[in-house]
Amino acid sequence: MTVLPQSVTEAITAQRDSHLSRLFELLRIPSVSADPGFSQDVYRAAKWVSTTFEGMGLKTQFVKTATHPIVLAESPIVPGAPTVLVYGHFDVQPADPLEEWISPPYDPTVRDGNIYARGATDDKGQMLTHVFSTEAWLKSHGKLPINLKFLIEGEEESGSVALAQLMAGKYNDQLGCSVEEKLACDVVVISDSSQFGPGIPAITYGLRGIISFELTLFGPKQDLHSGTFGGAVANPVNALMRVMAAFQDDYGKVLIPGFYDDVEDLSESERTQWQNLPFSEDDFMQQVGIRATFGEPGYSTIERCWSRPTMDINGITGGYQGEGGKTIVPAKASAKFTCRLVPNQDPVKIANAVKQLVQVRVPQMFTHKLKVGHAASGIVVPLDSPYMAAAHDAITAGFGKAPVLIRSGGSIPIVSQFKERLGVDTLLLGWGQNDDNTHSPNEKFSVEDFHRGIVASAHLWQAMADHVS
Ligand code: BES
Ligand code: MN
Ligand code: MN
Repeated sequence: MTVLPQSVTEAITAQRDSHLSRLFELLRIPSVSADPGFSQDVYRAAKWVSTTFEGMGLKTQFVKTATHPIVLAESPIVPGAPTVLVYGHFDVQPADPLEEWISPPYDPTVRDGNIYARGATDDKGQMLTHVFSTEAWLKSHGKLPINLKFLIEGEEESGSVALAQLMAGKYNDQLGCSVEEKLACDVVVISDSSQFGPGIPAITYGLRGIISFELTLFGPKQDLHSGTFGGAVANPVNALMRVMAAFQDDYGKVLIPGFYDDVEDLSESERTQWQNLPFSEDDFMQQVGIRATFGEPGYSTIERCWSRPTMDINGITGGYQGEGGKTIVPAKASAKFTCRLVPNQDPVKIANAVKQLVQVRVPQMFTHKLKVGHAASGIVVPLDSPYMAAAHDAITAGFGKAPVLIRSGGSIPIVSQFKERLGVDTLLLGWGQNDDNTHSPNEKFSVEDFHRGIVASAHLWQAMADHVS
């Protein structure tokens, strides 16, 4: 069990109100990375983060990129101690549909012990737990027990494109050294996921990867009268539906040729462990508002979410969307879709298989365009490391309960690159809840989980020093 200096614990308690009000400051900035209309706000959020690091006395760097800024900070060197790289993001998903928010998305409000705002849990609130724990250490104790580096970006929700370029060395001149040297560390820590449930803290040891696509079919040069031309001119919306229908069978199995070739079977022990987690199918259905669960036959809901790849259409457009009817053969139709990938599936191979399927399926009379967007591999991290042991102790101290081990279906695109380019594993320590409405209206984060996250993080720095040497 880790023991914190009394002064650090006291500093965290004394700063409770200040932590909350500073989180609110950041939440008031609508830093939507996907929408160019908000790029000034993403920039302001980056400045807020870098100013906070400077205020803590950290060596801070503000990296300007072709898209959104990246903020780096380093604590004073503690010779011989391990180095932890904390990654997080200050960008958020768009807030729409706005009319479904009970309180406005960028006007943080506490109700029933929860902070409601876009970005509360994903990821401003969770990310700041590590900033504030570090501040408490430095303010009250004067130094940290380990070396800390922060890497906080503004484009995670759009696939971490600039960060991938930074990792590839594109911004070494701004860094003043190679990115490998700048980010050299023993382990990465990320709080950008969830606990297993209320009162059930967790360590996440796996994430799915992702690859995104947009397919557009072009028909006649403009919308046509469907009475005059319908039946003789092929309809791109009709055709797109048939193309997309070829991607999945009625039971949720993906039909992209070769899609499952590299998917590894779940081990019996993992399967058994997951069966022993306190999961209720009814609560799950209630939470998301469905009459029945769905998915590949032979797999449980947890297995489908954590260990199986998917194809989901995220949005589909084409034809008339306004009030009333309009009888036309539309000029074009498009679909945005993503595949969630599991470890050992190669995003490039999947992209090629999708191209091939589209090629075969789109009727010759249409011109089509397939855009392949951001991609990232799935990951699993080893459980038998001293870092895992440190995380276990820190969470137990902060949340008053030992964590369970889980995987998650979400993606954090840069994690696979931390392994590939820096050679290090990532600890995914999520303080959120599955019903926090991430990416949905009324996103929230529990005030208590925010506070417990700060305490757990403060313990983590000590536990890393204790376990790793
Ligand atoms: N924090 C999430 C990822 C996540 C969600 C991890 C739930 C574990 C559990 C992250 O901000 C996110 O939303 N990622 C995107 C990545 C995509 C836009 C490239 C995702 O998973 O859709
Ligand atoms: Mn996130
Ligand atoms: Mn997100």
